[in-house]
Amino acid sequence: MPPLQDNNVQVNTGVDNVDLQGTMPSGDKTHTKYIIEMRGGDTVQVQLSVDGAQALAELSPRITVTFHNVSKVINVPAKMIDPSSKKRFIERKLLDQVSGQIHPGQIVALMGPSGCGKTTLLNTLAGRALSGVTGDIWFNNQRYDKSMKRKLAYVLQQDIFFEQLTVKQQLTYTALLRLPNHLSKQDKLAQVEQIIDQLRIRKCANTPIMLISGGEKKRVNIGTELLTNPSVIFLDEPTSGLDSTSAVALMDVLRDLAIQGKTIITSIHQPSSQIFQSFDQLILLADGKTIFMGKPSDALLYFATMGHRSPPQYNPADYVMDLVNQDMTIREQLKDAYLTNKLVGHVKSVSNQVQSQTSTNAHQYLIPEPSGHEADLTNPDNVNLIPTKHESKWPIGFLPQMMILFKRAFVLTGRSQFTILNFVQALGLAVVSGLCWLRMEFAENTIPDRSSFMFFLMTFWPLHTMMHGLLSFPFERVIIEKERASGSYRLSSYFAAKSLAEAPVKLVLPTLFLIIAYWMANINSNFGIFLAVLAFQLMAVLVAESLGLLLGAALKNLQHAITVATVLLMSLMLVGGFFVRNLPHWLGVWGKWLSFFKYAYNACLQLQFKGGQIYQCVDGSYVSSCRNNPNGTFMSHEALEFFDSGISIGFNFLVLFGMFVVFRTLAYLSLRFVKNHSGRS
Ligand SMILES: Nc1ncnc2c1ncn2[C@@H]1O[C@H](COP(=O)(O)OP(=O)(O)OP(=O)(O)O)[C@@H](O)[C@H]1O
Ligand SMILES: [Mg+2]
Repeated sequence: MPPLQDNNVQVNTGVDNVDLQGTMPSGDKTHTKYIIEMRGGDTVQVQLSVDGAQALAELSPRITVTFHNVSKVINVPAKMIDPSSKKRFIERKLLDQVSGQIHPGQIVALMGPSGCGKTTLLNTLAGRALSGVTGDIWFNNQRYDKSMKRKLAYVLQQDIFFEQLTVKQQLTYTALLRLPNHLSKQDKLAQVEQIIDQLRIRKCANTPIMLISGGEKKRVNIGTELLTNPSVIFLDEPTSGLDSTSAVALMDVLRDLAIQGKTIITSIHQPSSQIFQSFDQLILLADGKTIFMGKPSDALLYFATMGHRSPPQYNPADYVMDLVNQDMTIREQLKDAYLTNKLVGHVKSVSNQVQSQTSTNAHQYLIPEPSGHEADLTNPDNVNLIPTKHESKWPIGFLPQMMILFKRAFVLTGRSQFTILNFVQALGLAVVSGLCWLRMEFAENTIPDRSSFMFFLMTFWPLHTMMHGLLSFPFERVIIEKERASGSYRLSSYFAAKSLAEAPVKLVLPTLFLIIAYWMANINSNFGIFLAVLAFQLMAVLVAESLGLLLGAALKNLQHAITVATVLLMSLMLVGGFFVRNLPHWLGVWGKWLSFFKYAYNACLQLQFKGGQIYQCVDGSYVSSCRNNPNGTFMSHEALEFFDSGISIGFNFLVLFGMFVVFRTLAYLSLRFVKNHSGRS
């Protein structure tokens, strides 16, 4: 113990009966290794710099969670429940006056039949989806505030990650994003190593998440949330899908965390009797109401007072669940009995009437509900959980967030874009296009083919990229929302990072395509013109990608987004000036100005016929000066008289750039303001 104190290191153990023995090997000053021994023989290795240990300890004060008469009501569209209903909405109560108190060092289990409101209660306590919630929730003696997010961890039932990342990459990016600025990078990486050991996932640390087992994935999910050393941990069915040994191992991890002073509340389905008995408190819900709150070992005794006796050798958890699920009358009886018993417990001198109804001393098996008076709330570490105004809401600043997210997006896009298949596709198409338009002569009869080459160039890659853009947010959104719900980063830094990281990667394949197809087709031998055509092609790709991102973010349903995108793209292509040269006036007058294909195509046509190239006349079908002079020549720019050349090259570029900016901004705003349609979190 003395070495820890001498060096002003506080390790937050949080539980009185833990023996701390710090040993500090001499040598490395910045990275000090502590071996903390706990009573019972367990040891935890902490390898952090002195600053690191301190900063982490500060992040994790001991927190008592108190909730009093928490209810949640939602309005469900009436037609969903009863198609003949005349009303617009029907009110549904998901939680009904649920109360309880959870102390640091405790693991509380939340049980009940499916749909009874376990996830809803966890969401509410964790400060998520708070609309329609009434009642009081306190963390120590302070009410929930958004700035507490970082002290709370919420392990969702679903394991949501970028599955292409390895376990270590996932944890590292999270640590770099979510651990505060005053920890050095080494400290953050040391924390990752510690979590990997603590959760026993060393074996799969370098495996992509998509390849690891369900149990390992669950532990990575928990590890991701534990990196920040939170004080309160909410878990939604962490053992579902795990075999009994993995479930017990997971519970051991939770017990270790509780010993360190964390407050843990977890919903759980079908625990084994060993796990069931290991909880410090059990809250049993049915239809959003509490039917039991007490020690798991008292649950059977409590229900026995009402005549529901468990057969011997039966798993108590199974018995309790069977009882609640059995029939509606028993369920109603249990709800009423809890209300009565809770009253009896609260008021020592109750009327004879109440006592005669209960006829037993069942209330002694219940843990009393908190009173709801602020004066009764505790604050074990006497800390202020709400940071003062000048403290940033985010663990790290905008730029560092962006750099880390940039790296992650770059790794992710690189992996999905630079596949052999995509290279084969780009190169294959380039060669086929080159062969189709092979070595066109500089002659009048090649004018239509030259124009179609440009149109193909300006449509194929934009279409391709737009479809990728369209799919980008619908798949990423759920991960981003999960990460942002725990206060990891700003949406703006994510969006900027994604835009910056993806753009170059998405531009490589079109560039490769153009290098091959352009020179095979013999478009224009001036290298400057080649570069300008390339710039337009890449700009068109960026505009199309932005439009795809916008549709993907604005339309919640992917099918709708794909349909809108197809109709929109085809329409823009049709009015782009290549397929129909004489649009009806009322359509052409505005339609063609909306089409980004038109601007890119138009500019590239002008570019192609620039540079004073001499063309051979053929029959005068396209160039008037060739009409009476079939063996003569003309200057390339004369070919443009056949086309509606529109605005200048520079202006075309400006319009495209403007479209890019507008579509990107709208995509960002849609991502920010169009909410996830599930509305559950
Ligand atoms: N946004 C919502 N719209 C409509 N119904 C909802 C919404 N959110 C929750 N519910 C309903 O509220 C009830 C409680 O849901 P909740 O997810 O909390 O149950 P649960 O106890 O976690 O169930 P499970 O064990 O199956 O996960 C369910 O009947 C669910 O259908
Ligand atoms: Mg649930």
